[in-house]
Amino acid sequence: MTDYDVLAEVYEWLISDAKLPPAEFAASFDDVLSLLPSNAHVLDCSCGTGQLAVGLAGRGMQVVATDASEAMVRRTAELSEEFGASVRAMRATWEELPDHFEDGTFDMVFCVGNALHHAAGAPGRVAALESMSRLLRPGGRLVLTSRAWELVRSMGSRLDISDRLVRRNGRDAVVVYRWEIAPHWEEEHHIEIAIAQFDATGRVLVRSELLSCWPYRYEELELELHRVGLRTDVSTFEREADNYMVVASKI
Ligand SMILES: C[S@@+](CC[C@H](N)C(=O)[O-])C[C@H]1O[C@@H](n2cnc3c(N)ncnc32)[C@H](O)[C@@H]1O
Repeated sequence: MTDYDVLAEVYEWLISDAKLPPAEFAASFDDVLSLLPSNAHVLDCSCGTGQLAVGLAGRGMQVVATDASEAMVRRTAELSEEFGASVRAMRATWEELPDHFEDGTFDMVFCVGNALHHAAGAPGRVAALESMSRLLRPGGRLVLTSRAWELVRSMGSRLDISDRLVRRNGRDAVVVYRWEIAPHWEEEHHIEIAIAQFDATGRVLVRSELLSCWPYRYEELELELHRVGLRTDVSTFEREADNYMVVASKI
């Protein structure tokens, strides 16, 4: 069961130093953001703890931030308050988005940071992409970042343990990823993430969550984007790289 409600409490230990400040997270999308008017309507549809949404609001955009996890949405609302940002944060899964917004509401939709693999297989993924596409105005763009599952699967099941302590809010932690790679692409895979924090007295507090995911090949994603009425404008996919970004516009 993927819900992120446990990880939400300690999610900053999973975000890179570079993306922790909201302005810097948003700046990592400067190229695509330069295509928008400054008061554009944007949606971050898997907002996590809200760094991107708050960074976009800081640029004057009208931002809606949604996520399937109630705890993530709460953290996004707290971060917005902390930064005095105007972000409308609400709980909604990708499939539920069309119940809340008219078709064509947004100039840009973001689905970033390895979220889409949580959609249940090809049918779940197409349903999620269909929702995102519906909410875009004609010519609007979906910005999606993804793990390159071609590479992840080639490394098989394994344990990745951070080789340095990650320090956040004055507290050090070791971060562990356990990858459970199924024999076939279409099957449910798992990633177990554990964050072991040490306090000043040397006690260890472990928080962990088992996440379900359904990998996809880049070629499949391209076809699926096309199927839901999106045309790929930019892709940074490369066989040897860990992650890639796709920008696709609504036809
Ligand atoms: C790896 S986190 C990425 C968070 C954020 N975008 C970032 O870059 O830090 C994946 C997020 O996707 C959300 N998510 C998973 N399944 C979802 C669904 N069906 N609909 C909407 N959000 C979902 C999770 O709750 C989680 O916050």
